Amino acid sequence: MLSHDLKASLDPVVWCKGALDLEPDPWQAEVLRSDSKRILLNCSRQSGKSTITSALALHTATYQEESLVLCLSPTLRQSSELFRNVSRFYGVDPAIPSRSESALRLELENGSRIVSLPGKEQNIRGMAKVSLLIVDEAARVPDSLYYSVRPMLAVSNGRLIALSTPFGNRGWWAEAWHSPEPWQKWEIPASKCPRIKPEFLEEERRVLGSYWFEQEYECRFLDAQTQLLRKEDVDNMFNEEVSAWAL
Ligand SMILES: Nc1ncnc2c1ncn2[C@@H]1O[C@H](COP(=O)(O)OP(=O)(O)OP(=O)(O)O)[C@@H](O)[C@H]1O
Ligand SMILES: [Mg+2]
Repeated sequence: MLSHDLKASLDPVVWCKGALDLEPDPWQAEVLRSDSKRILLNCSRQSGKSTITSALALHTATYQEESLVLCLSPTLRQSSELFRNVSRFYGVDPAIPSRSESALRLELENGSRIVSLPGKEQNIRGMAKVSLLIVDEAARVPDSLYYSVRPMLAVSNGRLIALSTPFGNRGWWAEAWHSPEPWQKWEIPASKCPRIKPEFLEEERRVLGSYWFEQEYECRFLDAQTQLLRKEDVDNMFNEEVSAWAL
């Protein structure tokens, strides 16, 4: 029979439940167990996307020696927020002693590091051989930054997980979601989150109006409200396979 520690190392869901006392939602369990190198999580606000990727960050650092897990967020506040989850989980299960700990960084005695950084190119350059790159609030991470971090996965053949709620229908995040590239994708509207009550959602729909409600809670990529032409129509103007508008 496998020892509990070996099971925990092989199965992050077992580890999450046993070591962190966190019962993952069914989609969170699928994400934890995925072995895909390219993952997109298009999830409602407050559905638990940062929580589960923080858990995965710690599982990777704990059980994959010498790994570098880089968490990227658009702002310092968001990177601190994400790292707070990692620290909280590490506090519950410090399976490997730490060499050093700070507000945005954890270094373990097995040589692994988890580093959380706000999205400025000058902060990021120089990082290499990333085993797991997590991009939180991905829809708000600028294209230039995203393109400058991807090469960090080259030598390590590392994994990339980008998580967000949509923010308009432009930029690399929206393009990745709609692209034929082999991303493994999860779309989790608020209605699939057991902690978000239908009554709360009804109130939000009334207060926010349909545009913001659909974007924040229903994972919809929407054109900016002030945009004159829909993105789909602009794309079709340049698509020769679409027949011309009838006059
Ligand atoms: N499986 C779970 N069981 C219990 N609580 C959970 C679970 N997953 C997430 N939560 C809780 O739900 C809340 C929202 O989680 P989290 O911050 O990860 O969501 P998010 O999708 O990143 O939200 P936001 O869009 O606001 O960044 C947190 O309080 C978190 O502790
Ligand atoms: Mg979050």
